[in-house]
Amino acid sequence: MTFKRGCYAAWLLAFGLAWPGAPTMVAAQDVSFGQRLFQDKADCKFCHGAEGDGRGDPRSPGAGANLHKTILDKAQLIEVIACGRPGTEMPHFDKFAYDDDTPCYGMKSADIGADRPPPPHSTPLTRREIEAIADYIVVTFVGK
Ligand code: HEC
Repeated sequence: MTFKRGCYAAWLLAFGLAWPGAPTMVAAQDVSFGQRLFQDKADCKFCHGAEGDGRGDPRSPGAGANLHKTILDKAQLIEVIACGRPGTEMPHFDKFAYDDDTPCYGMKSADIGADRPPPPHSTPLTRREIEAIADYIVVTFVGK
């Protein structure tokens, strides 16, 4: 299944490159890098499911969003992955989220208090890794 989706993504990318201005034009290597992060290193699939449909592991805190139905654009996806979702189990993958120098949604630690999202059970991610996962989500899940 993952393999088939990969092929579809590759097709989309090839088509996108032949059609200047296509909204899905992103670097293929970013997408496969993002896929590995989503499925393995960052373990997003634990809560969101390998298919990104929100059917994660029964042991996960549950109710991971269905990423096929998201209305977020790439910049907003990056923000949610970096900052988490306040008051929910969606973790912040930027290690420095809510620090004084890197506020999230305009808030620092003191502002967000108990609503601060948890750190990931897997590992924090760099900005480049977060962007690659956002590319993977846009190409593979959103609207499909
Ligand atoms: C511990 C469980 C958990 C993990 C791990 C997790 N998420 Fe989430 N995620 C959630 C939950 C729960 C929500 C829904 C929050 C809400 O109710 O708004 C969510 C929401 C989101 C959203 C917002 C979707 C929308 O349309 O509002 C995105 C994007 C997202 N997650 C991406 C990721 C990515 C990418 C990873 C891995 C880097 C990840 N998540 C890891 C639990 C998790």
